[in-house]
Amino acid sequence: MNDGSSADVLAGNLRGELQRYAPGEKLPSSRDLRERFGVSPATVSRAVAQLAAEGLVVTRPGAGAFRAQPSAGGTRAVDTSWQQIALTAEDQQHAEPAPRTVDASGIVAALEVPPPGVIAFNGGYLHPSMQPEQALSAAFARAARRPGAWGRPPFEGLTELRAWFARDVGGPAGGITPAQVLVTAGGQAALTTALRALAPPGSPVLVESPTYPGVLAAARAGGLRPVPVPVDDDGVRPDLLADAFGATGARVFYCQPLFHNPTGVVLSAGRRRRIAEIAHAAGAFIVEDDFARRLGHGGRLPQPLVVDDPFGSVVHVSSLTKPTSPSLRVGALVARGPVLERLRAIQVVDSFFVPRPLQEATLELVGTPAWPRHLRAITTGLRERRDAVLAALHRDLPRLAPGVRAPVGGYHLWIRLPDGTDETALTAACLRAGVAVSPGRPFFAAEAPAPYLRISYADTAGTDEITQGVRRIAEACAANGVPA
Ligand SMILES: Cc1ncc(COP(=O)(O)O)c(C=O)c1O
Repeated sequence: MNDGSSADVLAGNLRGELQRYAPGEKLPSSRDLRERFGVSPATVSRAVAQLAAEGLVVTRPGAGAFRAQPSAGGTRAVDTSWQQIALTAEDQQHAEPAPRTVDASGIVAALEVPPPGVIAFNGGYLHPSMQPEQALSAAFARAARRPGAWGRPPFEGLTELRAWFARDVGGPAGGITPAQVLVTAGGQAALTTALRALAPPGSPVLVESPTYPGVLAAARAGGLRPVPVPVDDDGVRPDLLADAFGATGARVFYCQPLFHNPTGVVLSAGRRRRIAEIAHAAGAFIVEDDFARRLGHGGRLPQPLVVDDPFGSVVHVSSLTKPTSPSLRVGALVARGPVLERLRAIQVVDSFFVPRPLQEATLELVGTPAWPRHLRAITTGLRERRDAVLAALHRDLPRLAPGVRAPVGGYHLWIRLPDGTDETALTAACLRAGVAVSPGRPFFAAEAPAPYLRISYADTAGTDEITQGVRRIAEACAANGVPA
């Protein structure tokens, strides 16, 4: 069990026991708790800190932890019903173009840690065993000692880090300059900034169908209207993209040309230029979400669209979370022309800048020989997991497996379910069988054309867990009458 989850378990136990102590009474010492629960000192202090943050416990340095006194107002329930009106009333008065409710469920689903014993075929990040934990810790330790580590960075990001992203995105031919890079707090923040910069509330934004639920949520939270454009085995369909621009007058197209989430498709060489021309003819920007570039399974990768962008239409998004840890929230926007200033201004207004220690630590991480080694290790780790999940599918789900594309990068399989399958019921049955999978519905901006499941293999411990996970899906299919 990692320290975070054992601290959660200990905090849960202590929470249940708090009633045994009078307000103000001292709780057992750290040593008592360690011995009783068989946990480390770090676990005890994290659990106690958790309870202190919830206001249940107070800590006094040198004296220990005490049950908190109830606050003067007690836990008086406040009548907050008025908020329901306040949060929507303006929509009516000012004819808000889109409702202001924000639906984070699609994102939360990818970040949720499944209950103990449940295999995480729904995770959006690397399993802890594939994360570069040691290299990250060492990088942070060195970063903390860098002169000025806690000072204010330039708004656009540290010059050295911008130069690294320029080389990383542009490749050795140097298609990108550091001045065209804006350091961001990961990919999601970059997407929000880009959408806000490029499209006013109420306007349409074209998205691939299916697509990443996080971009649908971000667009809707910004008052935009996502309009789906179908994807086939070669990526987005150019004929339908042109139609969608014509029908909506959209000025933004969001796409993932490499290892598309959820289908795993790579935009074909033949379509790259065509897509750029169609967007340019519509006077539109292309937001290129290059989230999975470092998750290839071996083999040559096409360049990012932004590198040979003939019109300056591409706003490129990348992030280091996927090949490291969801907590290394550092990414970059790359663009050309006046849009750069708009992106920069929006980021400054929203969040000032990305914390300097995080930027310094990133430089420390990517500058060591451990970095290319780590990238090679995840290539192998992901390829092995992909092979294991495909083999298990062919063994245990022989009717579904033939229709599943073997991805050459990314971390997921997109499985077409038989017509009429109730995705929600099947996903719930999978969870009961001990495996968390993602239903297809949240990946569609409008009605889904068919039922799907996404199986993600990045957040799995290895082959045995994958074999077991697929077996559990097969059990759930059988229990739900899904011919699989
Ligand atoms: C397609 C895609 N883009 C962007 C992101 C955002 O990632 P992050 O904010 O961790 O960089 C995700 C995360 O799942 C994703 O799947």
